[in-house]
Amino acid sequence: MITYLASKNEGKLAEIRTMLGNSPLQLRTYAAYRDPEEGHESYVDNALLKARALRSQLHDAGIRDAAVLADDSGIELDALGGRPGVDSAVYAGAATPWPQRLATMMREVDEHGGRERGARFVCVMALILPDGREIVVEGDVRGEISPQLRGKNGFGYDPLFFYPPIGKTFGQIPEREKNELSHRGRAARALLEALKP
Ligand code: IMP
Repeated sequence: MITYLASKNEGKLAEIRTMLGNSPLQLRTYAAYRDPEEGHESYVDNALLKARALRSQLHDAGIRDAAVLADDSGIELDALGGRPGVDSAVYAGAATPWPQRLATMMREVDEHGGRERGARFVCVMALILPDGREIVVEGDVRGEISPQLRGKNGFGYDPLFFYPPIGKTFGQIPEREKNELSHRGRAARALLEALKP
């Protein structure tokens, strides 16, 4: 089933391609995709918003026989009462470069005493089938905010997300290993399960 991805985030796209590479979904990007304005309420709302936006853009372009897949994700910090959550992409300012965004996060955790370091990555995937049926799945993973940036792999908050069972951050492990452990990997496996006949 040809499936267009509602994302321009290269990090996410690479991971989703690997995770769903051998699935019934034949993944494509749509160069003309325009992201809608995201809300601040829930990952589910945002994932559906992006999937529905892409579906409507494809319909306008005469493409009606494809599925669409969107991912909305974020990181939630215990010390910050679950922030930034759905606002993770704009944490510390939408145009803020990543090194500064990560430094702000480390500083905020320290300002809260530095002892409460628990964090959770969340990913919601929304798939809309060509007939309009919507499938929504979620995956999450708990870890801790590392006191220093560690590793250069992955993207976004990965160098700050320490996963105690392996004693490393997601920035220190290869993509294959991250995909086995991550929120996105868990969501992708739930999606494949939901697609089983
Ligand atoms: P959105 O899903 O486009 O709203 O963006 C989610 C934000 O969380 C972006 O800033 C991503 O870089 C970040 N994020 C989502 N998933 C991951 C991940 O697997 N590793 C690191 N950062 C992530």
